Amino acid sequence: LKARDGSVERVSTGLDRLDALLDGGFQRGALIILAGEPGVGKTVFCANFIHSGWVQGEKGVYASFGEDRRTFLSNMRSHLGEEKVKCFTEGGCEYLDLATVTPEGVSETFQAIFEAVNRVGAKRLVIDPFTALSLALKDPLDVRLFMHSVLGKIVRQLGCTTVLVKEAYVEPRALGVEEYVSDVIIHLIASMYVADAVIHLSTDVVEDRFLRVMELTKARGSRLSERLLPYTLERGFRIVNPFVLSEGKVVKRWQPIPDSTNRFSTGISDLDKMLGGGFPRGSTALLEVDSKLTAEQYFPPVMSTAANFLAQGRPVILTLPLGIIPATVEKYVKLCGFTDEEINRLMRICVIEGQYPEEVTSRKYVWSAKPKDLLESQALYNQMEAELRARAKERNVLNIIGLDNVYGVFGLQNLPLYINRGMSSAAARGDLRLFILKPGIPSKAVYQTLYSTTELHLRLIRKHGVLFVYGVKPRTILHAIEADEKSFVPTLIPIV
Ligand SMILES: Nc1ncnc2c1ncn2[C@@H]1O[C@H](COP(=O)(O)OP(=O)(O)O)[C@@H](O)[C@H]1O
Ligand SMILES: [Mg+2]
Repeated sequence: LKARDGSVERVSTGLDRLDALLDGGFQRGALIILAGEPGVGKTVFCANFIHSGWVQGEKGVYASFGEDRRTFLSNMRSHLGEEKVKCFTEGGCEYLDLATVTPEGVSETFQAIFEAVNRVGAKRLVIDPFTALSLALKDPLDVRLFMHSVLGKIVRQLGCTTVLVKEAYVEPRALGVEEYVSDVIIHLIASMYVADAVIHLSTDVVEDRFLRVMELTKARGSRLSERLLPYTLERGFRIVNPFVLSEGKVVKRWQPIPDSTNRFSTGISDLDKMLGGGFPRGSTALLEVDSKLTAEQYFPPVMSTAANFLAQGRPVILTLPLGIIPATVEKYVKLCGFTDEEINRLMRICVIEGQYPEEVTSRKYVWSAKPKDLLESQALYNQMEAELRARAKERNVLNIIGLDNVYGVFGLQNLPLYINRGMSSAAARGDLRLFILKPGIPSKAVYQTLYSTTELHLRLIRKHGVLFVYGVKPRTILHAIEADEKSFVPTLIPIV
């Protein structure tokens, strides 16, 4: 169907990111095949699809060969919430419980679907699983009947956007003849230029963690910029977004998240939740960062912890990872509402003399030294730290250290001692030390030492353009990291 201006009309899929990729949604009157193994969320996707149409004044019919109506409603209530189920219970969308279909009943089943679509005045139709119906299509006549009734009348004539659910089989080799025929039929529909879009839902394992991925195999009329979209079934069906930090938004004064008696808050409430309250007091945490991540992607979470310390009048000392400059940190803390006075009193960025031009090193918060060796450097550092601590209202210090920087300045042979002393200092004073570790230090032993001695170990990775964090210690599931439009504090979405 075409809109007046000749362009194809689009209807929302119910998922923002999918709509954006598909130039607004599915084409009105399109036939979509949604495939995936049991449990991937096909039914949740389809219920959400019907609901999103209903919101825009398009009624829908859900023709089901799966769960009975009560089970469907109660499952969808727990996935999508009461609000989204209302379109079925009081909004005029119809859940058509077809239970089973026998080869003898194929044409009656088609008729029942067709009548429901007409009765409701549906603009959207789901057949879930369509496999149940296609299993009953035994001979070419049935296939022609299907083409005629579902495709011809419902989809093309009535302009009803239709999703056919294909329940994939776990064991392809276990296919019986019937399943095989059914598979061939669906494949024919998908490939004979009949299906306008084909979507595959599947599960994946990334670094020993569970992930869900939607694959846009076919999308007629759309030039796709991305075909693999990670998603989660956390509170409905949700495609997670790539991390894009909105530029230069003025943020109101940072409101600190209070600490518990034995933990420091990370400054990100979702991360606190993931870690069972935050970073243990007196601990050293390891943040391991994938080489694919840019500074803009991994630094905001780190700076959230820094802001949470500063806002409580605690000192923050940074030895920046390579690729991040002092000006970036200054910009960030100013956007969090900290004054020059606070920054100069509580924050220090450690640099080596000569590393930056005068205009950078002349800043009060930049601490530059030219130590002759590691021991001298640590003596100077400790002195500076003690002075900051003495001036601060709260005595716990946060040390953020890019280990690639330390490696670059002091070399491999000094790293173990550096790490060891840092950890002891944090433990003795009840501070928090955050080591940022990236690939590139040419020593397995260094990584091994860090893995085995740090109390908390997080990994930040990128997959299909999306940022994820997970805990190695404590072990957690994958969480997608999304940027909040209004603040720097990222949102974490568990992948379930
Ligand atoms: N409240 C919930 N939150 C998140 N996931 C859930 C919840 N309840 C069930 N699940 C998961 O949702 C999946 C079922 O989704 P469903 O749409 O019925 O899958 P499909 O139709 O593809 O078989 C299962 O993998 C189940 O583990
Ligand atoms: Mg299902």
